[in-house]
Amino acid sequence: MSQTIAPHGGTLINRIVQGAERDQLLAEARTFFQIKINSWTVSDLDLIGVGAFSPLTGFMEEADYNSVVERMRLANGTVWSIPITLAVEEAVASQLKVGQQVALVGEEDGVIYGTLDVKSIYQVDQQREAVNVFKTADEAHPGVQKLYSRPSTYVGGPVQILNRPKPKKFEDYYFDPAETRRIFAEKGWKTVVGFQTRNPVHRAHEYIQKCAMEIVDALFLNPLVGETKSDDISADVRMKSYLVLLENYYPKDRVFLGVFPAAMRYAGPREAIFHAMVRKNYGCTHFIVGRDHAGVGDYYGTYEAQEIFSNFTKEELGIQPLFFEHSFFCTKCGNMASTKTCPHDKADHLHLSGTKVRALLRDGQCPPPEFSRPEVAKVLIEGMSEQAQATPQ
Ligand code: ADX
Repeated sequence: MSQTIAPHGGTLINRIVQGAERDQLLAEARTFFQIKINSWTVSDLDLIGVGAFSPLTGFMEEADYNSVVERMRLANGTVWSIPITLAVEEAVASQLKVGQQVALVGEEDGVIYGTLDVKSIYQVDQQREAVNVFKTADEAHPGVQKLYSRPSTYVGGPVQILNRPKPKKFEDYYFDPAETRRIFAEKGWKTVVGFQTRNPVHRAHEYIQKCAMEIVDALFLNPLVGETKSDDISADVRMKSYLVLLENYYPKDRVFLGVFPAAMRYAGPREAIFHAMVRKNYGCTHFIVGRDHAGVGDYYGTYEAQEIFSNFTKEELGIQPLFFEHSFFCTKCGNMASTKTCPHDKADHLHLSGTKVRALLRDGQCPPPEFSRPEVAKVLIEGMSEQAQATPQ
């Protein structure tokens, strides 16, 4: 298999146990102490298992955790910016011993998703984690809120995957890193730019993607479909918006759509580094970081998620970030632009707040085509009206 880019840490991790070995471990796992895991942790476990989080082979042990929180590196120095951890109640932790194997069981469905070799049981200071990772201890921040809702005892160690979570929708768009790497190589793409998104696609997204496409072989459109905060647009509606956009405005032979089944952390700058490392594992050579990447509210500066990359060398990152300024439609230029390319005043730039756009869509009105492609707006209007009907008054 020809590979264009090495995975983060050098090896694409694969913790999936198959065949007779799986049957045996699954039988043993039924007798192990069970730790119940929620859907967020199921998704982290699976992403570790398929190598999306390479070089992680399991949930972080104490030394890696502390090193990541303090200096954005694993204990061995490899760049890593977000803790990937398994939190358990104190009552559970008190029954565990280092050296023990435990079964990781979905709390909703009772499925044994995998096993973990307990190497480390440790207490964390959640406030320190919040301040270092999210740059705030404010409970109104959705990432901090999530962190504080979890117990503060973590269990770390390597994992084995026995069952994979089943996609609820858009099954055809789930690809493991080994698959995307193979597909990119088969297509002969030497350079691929990854695009992270958690929002319905608008013209600024299209503009920065297409600017990037001018200098690479292809685009890997990789929308995040894991857990997001409740007021983000549902993954279902977002996926429909990407499909209709690709169908009408993108060259089919230079774009690949695959979902990123991870939870959104809203950690801004640190999450941008994490997103880039993960897309490298999927085989991307380049990664787009625009304005306020992975940000929420006004916790982060507009370009902080770009500036953070300067903490690391090109070799350490391995993937080339492509930075984009805030982009907009300029009525005088008559096209999409940024302050790097447009000489006109702010007053000439089309600006619509998220609140205004949502209000228009709720009323069944399309935002101007300079903001959103009409085909995309139609999908969003339909999605919003379905959502409104489904929500009890
Ligand atoms: S994110 O949380 O996944 O970053 P979103 O889906 O809105 O949110 O953004 C996807 C990518 O597009 C990010 O890299 C973001 O910085 C970039 N982006 C979004 N809107 C703009 C814009 N108007 N100008 C430049 N970059 C943008």
